[in-house]
This record gives sequence, structure tokens and C-alpha cells, in this order.
Amino acid sequence: MEKVNVLILHKLPFNSESLFDKQFNIFRYDDNFKNEEIQALIPLLTDEVSKELIDSLPDLKIISNVGVGYNNIDYEYALSKGIVVTNTPGVLTESTADLTFALILGVARRILEADRFLRDGKFKGWDLTLFLGLELSQATLGIIGMGRIGQAVARRAKGFGMKIIYHNRKRVSEDSEKELSAKYVPFDELISTSDIISLHCPLTKETHHLIDKNEFLKMKDGVIIINTARGPVINEKELVNFLKNGKVKGAGLDVFEREPEVEGDLLHMENVILLPHIGSATHYTRKRIVTLAVNNVIEFFKNERPLTPIK
Ligand code: DGY
Repeated sequence: MEKVNVLILHKLPFNSESLFDKQFNIFRYDDNFKNEEIQALIPLLTDEVSKELIDSLPDLKIISNVGVGYNNIDYEYALSKGIVVTNTPGVLTESTADLTFALILGVARRILEADRFLRDGKFKGWDLTLFLGLELSQATLGIIGMGRIGQAVARRAKGFGMKIIYHNRKRVSEDSEKELSAKYVPFDELISTSDIISLHCPLTKETHHLIDKNEFLKMKDGVIIINTARGPVINEKELVNFLKNGKVKGAGLDVFEREPEVEGDLLHMENVILLPHIGSATHYTRKRIVTLAVNNVIEFFKNERPLTPIK
């Protein structure tokens, strides 16, 4: 095998770059390399891989994204140039579902509000009506996007005795619906009957602002919104408006429309939990993500078969 030149946009942790043997040369963005000699690119999900970047690397054969969401890559363009694109599905399912549930519980039971209240010295004794929240066993969870992560969230919700409804481009198998106790419903029905709406769809042209003013208007009063998918799936300004007018009771957000920026007003709201995109941030998962991204490149050049190509 000829030497392969790999451009890694950010240093990868967990010693994962040492998986590359001496057949691979590793370059970073500010190293001295010739664009024409780069065959593989490893971006993080926060690196925009535009048409221009792709065109600037004329011998590029594979883009191995570090992350499952690949809205940062001009995928259609890469494909049209015969470039293979891979992502990291499967390895982050459980950690992201765990964090989703942390947000569901955190917002429904007002954990951070209550914690701040106590730290502020306001706790004067047990009170029958202090920090009343939403009882999960009495609530309907609406899952938008029933892929791996959506299903892992449903599995957890079933354990909490929630009623589970979902909407997805394609209905999942009857066996999966039965196992998850999840019912497929049209999008509008999900929007208008859920107590908690949790987003698990990819960001595409079709899902950009999937949750916008019209959708908020159709929601139940007091709905809770959870987003561990991608920020732009929600019109963040409208979310703020509906949080302000009380239609949306609370929100748990791990992703933002203009990350790392956050709509200023959100920062001052008691009933929202804001996290810095840590859905998959466990040692176990993050190591698996970078290892898979590296191995996609290695397998592509050694065996012509990346492990997880996007089809
Ligand atoms: C992904 O891989 O797309 C996730 O957002 C990482 O947490």
C-alpha cells in the first residue's frame, strides 16, 4: 500500500491517532503539507466541510466524520466527487439516550431550579407545594426521530411507565413498536398531544426549523421540549417566545441553533437546562467515537471497506 496522507483537523484524544501505522502520514491544518497530497480528512462535527474545502483537496478519497450527525459536511457534493463519507453511528446511542433522560428528569422535576433555591438559602422546611413537577408515569413522551437514539430513549421511557408516541420518516417494525411500547402517530398528532417532546432526528433541509412558531402554537399548554439532536431543528427565537409566554413550561437543550452561541434570554430562564453539547460525553463513548473514525480511514485504505459509510 502506498503511503496515505491524512489531514486531521483537531488532535484526537485517547491515543487514538497511534492506531495509524507507518503507512499513514498525519498532518494538521497548520502543518506544511501540499493540498494535492491529502487522501483522507478527519473533521470534527463542528468543522464545516464545504464544497470549497473539498475542492481544495483534489486527491481526497474519504471524509471520516467524528460524530454521527454529518450536517457539517456537504455530503451530496462529496458523493458527486466519488468521495466516501463515514460517520460514527451506534457507538454513542446509549450515552446520548442517558443524557436525554437526564434532561427529561431534570426539567420535569425542576432539579436545577430546586438546587439553586436551596443554595440561595431559601429552603425553610418541607412544603407540600414546593417545586411541583410533572409525573413521568402520567405523561406522554413524543419522540421525533425513531432511529437508534430515539429507540434507546423509548426503552428508558418505558421503564418509567410513560406513554410513548413517535414520529419518523419510516415506521419502525411492528416488533420494535411492541418491544418499546411505542405508537406511531402523524407529526401533528405528536406535536399536539405530547407532554414532553424529544428530538432525535438528523439536521437536514427538511428538518431545519421543524419546530417553529406554527408547531409551538399547536402544542399542549405546559409542554416540555428536549433537544439532544441539532440546534437548528428548533427555531430558537420562537422557543424563547413560547417559554416566555408560558406555553412551553420548560426545556432541556444540549444543542443550539448557533452553537456555541446561546439565545441570550435562555440564560436567564429558570425553567431551562442548558448543556454544552455533551450528549455523548462519557469516557467510554468518546473513546469509541474517535476509534471508529480512525478505523474507518484505516479500513478504507487497507481493505477498501470503511466500517460505517453513510449510504
Ligand atoms: C454526534 O455525534 O452527532 C453527537 O452530536 C455527538 O454528541
